[in-house]
Amino acid sequence: MAHYAVRESPPLRGEIPIGTSKNAVLPIMCGALLTREDVRIENPPELTDVSTLASLLAACGCRVAREKGAIVITASAFRNPQDEEDVRKMRASVLVLGPLLARLGEARIPLPGGCAIGQRPIDQHLKGMSALGAKVSFDHGGVTLSGRLRGAVIYLDMPSVGATENLLMAATLASGSTRIENAAKEPEIVDLAAFLCSMGARISGAGTSTILIEGVQKLHGTSWTPIADRVEAGTMACACAITGGELLLRGARSEHLRSLLFKLSEAGVHIQDTPGGLMVFGRAKHPFEIRTMVYPGFPTDLQAPMMAVACKTPGTSVFLETIFENRFMHAAELTRLGAHIRVENRVAVVEGTPYLTGAAVRATDLRAGAALILAGLCAEGETLVDDECGHIDRGYCHIEEKLSAVGGLVRRLPASA
Ligand code: UD1
Repeated sequence: MAHYAVRESPPLRGEIPIGTSKNAVLPIMCGALLTREDVRIENPPELTDVSTLASLLAACGCRVAREKGAIVITASAFRNPQDEEDVRKMRASVLVLGPLLARLGEARIPLPGGCAIGQRPIDQHLKGMSALGAKVSFDHGGVTLSGRLRGAVIYLDMPSVGATENLLMAATLASGSTRIENAAKEPEIVDLAAFLCSMGARISGAGTSTILIEGVQKLHGTSWTPIADRVEAGTMACACAITGGELLLRGARSEHLRSLLFKLSEAGVHIQDTPGGLMVFGRAKHPFEIRTMVYPGFPTDLQAPMMAVACKTPGTSVFLETIFENRFMHAAELTRLGAHIRVENRVAVVEGTPYLTGAAVRATDLRAGAALILAGLCAEGETLVDDECGHIDRGYCHIEEKLSAVGGLVRRLPASA
């Protein structure tokens, strides 16, 4: 739990190392349940979501060892989670469902409730597991899946990232072949599929809307370095677009960030792909329109950081959020800094203003928290971001250190401050 004190900052200059992708690491950690052998994951990011999932896997009986620069998971013997609270702590723990079912023949988790940004049901995960032959039953607020899995054709009603990952993992050990249609195409899915193939899985088509999986009898251990975090990289690119300056985002991959980079270019920010990562130059000067979409459309996770950019960019910028139903909570907080934002259902209209002024604001969710820190970089005086729930630590590793190292005036204060 932390608070952040942010002051109006000079143009950011220098290099920011981009960490390993949280959204790639979490499913990969769950994928480690698919083999009895050691799975070594290199450079795991120091995020509370990663440590929460590591604790859940340990509580299920897996050996989870932290080694220098790596986490090693051994699932030679494990069971279903015994304490439902362990699962409830984090939404992404729904990703243990597929591997538990595939390995143990039975999986039980508490049904995840809604979260701040929306209802987030898991009907597509369950529909797919049912198509793979699992019996699905509900009782006492939980869902139990059981049965031996056999290959099937699964059509997802929407290309859910989590459902695609869960079904992909379950199908690797099903008998026969599986086809997931209308699958999500996010880079984290491509990375998960490549990781599973390195364990002996037979998967093709990841990154397209049809994924084919040929079930195998067992998977073996592996060592894997997951991709760089495109959301962290995108957030830092937004920081540069707010203050101006020149940043090298070391390790960022432009091919994972095309939609953001096009939008920043439209806004007048210069981008250059270099062998070491992405160079971002200059401040946003023109307004833009954002419609969040599934990959390769504009990522919902970067909607809040881009709204922080829009607050001071001259002209009228428009945001349409199509993925989550309640993902504009940062708008009210940004307004406290003097931003001009009107929200109507899933649309937010931002009139850029030359002056923002520091104020006390609250991080309502992970990406909202990052957006408030970014807005604080261009608000006169001090902005105090209250992150009592520890949202920012879930997805950004030492954000204050990374921004400070390039000239951002950001301090992390002890929780009691
Ligand atoms: C993942 C990411 C999250 C990102 C999101 C969308 C991880 C750990 N999290 O979340 O950062 O914001 O993708 O890019 O990778 N839905 C259903 N039924 C389902 C599943 C999803 O209706 O069974 C709906 C959700 O309520 C939501 C939308 O589909 O409105 C997208 O959800 P999904 O793609 O599953 O996102 P997550 O995997 O939860």
